[in-house]
Amino acid sequence: MDIRIREQTVEDTQCDALVIGASYKKVGQQARELVLVGTAKEVDSLLGGLIRSIYDDGEFKANLGELMTLHPMGKLAAKRVVVVGLGAQEKMNTQSVRRASATAARNLQQTGAQQIAMALHFEERNVDLDESVRAEVEGALLGLYTFKKYKQSDTYGNGRGITRINLLATNANEDRLDQAKNHGIALAEATNFARDLVNEPPNVLTPSELANRASAMASQFGLECEILDRSAMQDLGMGGLLGVAQGSAEPPKFIVLRYRGATQSGEKGIALVGKGITFDTGGISLKPAERMHEMKGDMAGAAAVIGAMYAIAVLKPAINVTALVPTTENMPGGTAYRPGDILRIMNGKTIEIVNTDAEGRLVLADALSYAVKEGLSPIIDVATLTGGIVVALGSVMSGMFCNDETLGNEIVAAGQVAGEKFWPMPLDDEYEESIQSDIADIKQTGGRYASAATAAKILEHFVGDAQWAHLDIAGTDFIDAKKPYQEHGATGVAVRTLAEFVLMKAE
Ligand code: BES
Ligand code: MN
Ligand code: ZN
Repeated sequence: MDIRIREQTVEDTQCDALVIGASYKKVGQQARELVLVGTAKEVDSLLGGLIRSIYDDGEFKANLGELMTLHPMGKLAAKRVVVVGLGAQEKMNTQSVRRASATAARNLQQTGAQQIAMALHFEERNVDLDESVRAEVEGALLGLYTFKKYKQSDTYGNGRGITRINLLATNANEDRLDQAKNHGIALAEATNFARDLVNEPPNVLTPSELANRASAMASQFGLECEILDRSAMQDLGMGGLLGVAQGSAEPPKFIVLRYRGATQSGEKGIALVGKGITFDTGGISLKPAERMHEMKGDMAGAAAVIGAMYAIAVLKPAINVTALVPTTENMPGGTAYRPGDILRIMNGKTIEIVNTDAEGRLVLADALSYAVKEGLSPIIDVATLTGGIVVALGSVMSGMFCNDETLGNEIVAAGQVAGEKFWPMPLDDEYEESIQSDIADIKQTGGRYASAATAAKILEHFVGDAQWAHLDIAGTDFIDAKKPYQEHGATGVAVRTLAEFVLMKAE
């Protein structure tokens, strides 16, 4: 994909489609008024006020993501004009630009356009020019993402795809716009890299293959990579990861990626920890068959941290970051771990197993202990951990459990820049009561109620004195239904928030 910022006039912008934005503002109690600025205003006047009159007729309402295609019949050099709704002007933010850009690009890809021009970014709206250029680039690349590698038929049914995007700008030569563009490309490509990992079927993306892909990415971008095998895990006493892995024919891996952006600094840096269950059957406490196939996505936390390392390696902030990924399958079988077993985690604590389907906390417990031993702080873990968080927050927000308010606020703020939502959840000490065990240090689960919170309380036992946040993405990692701005399947959630968080910490 070729993306450029171009100083061009609308009249001589040759392309298959020119994308412009339109918003509305309220006037009085009921009425709305169309808002066209910059390039959109110019296009409207070149077309003799066509957009405004269509709006007045009620055919196009400028709602967020709404599309309208116009054929200028020679009045412009562009073959088509696509007007995309940006919604209510007072609610406009970078996320509206991202969504609008994604929807328009995705639609154009499916309708045969190859070279497109876009002008959705405007300083006069309540969004910074470079922020909006970034969101526009991110949106387009995220919207164009597809996962069709296992389909033999032609991707879009028309043998074509978008190969070039020109962003129209009046101050095209400015460095900061170019930087914003590159920032957007890095974050979107890192997200799409993570999406590929999650979308891969579990027979292809085994723990070994996840390690191979992380390692290949690391050598491509100059990260250090270390893959621990079963015997190294035994030496370290990783009884949680080894216990979960013992029922699987696939060997477990512990992936370590290191980025050193602050070699002079004495700070060990940030730890990003991701749950990497490449397939979760539930083990002996077997899951029902319905929707079990979706459990190929149980490594979305791993994909998020590996994806974030991709973006960090490209954008090179001055800070140290280590990614830790415990990865294995969770399978039933004659060698599998059982309810009733007691496992000893790397930090010495023992856990009484009551349900082998609560495997995520066990592999994370070892990874968090490893982070503490390395002296890393803050620690942020990302995991498709509980069905409870799906019930609580659905696919709109990820749950955030945090032992430090400042860290929590920083993550929410990074999420806002990235267009991802994290909702603070409680780590109250009373939740501890349900995870007391008579025969081990902790019991593995606290039952049905508040299961996302009790799972987080288990993790808290392994973070020592570090600043720590746990992001439960079980409801946000995957979408079942097609969206106009997004391919069905993996969302790549948390990649951009984590990368943004690291960039903010480096400033
Ligand atoms: N991977 C699942 C959680 C999950 C559920 C992810 C739905 C995505 C969608 C996790 O390993 C799990 O099975 N959790 C159980 C724990 C329970 C047995 C204590 C849950 O939350 O139901
Ligand atoms: Mn499970
Ligand atoms: Zn799981």
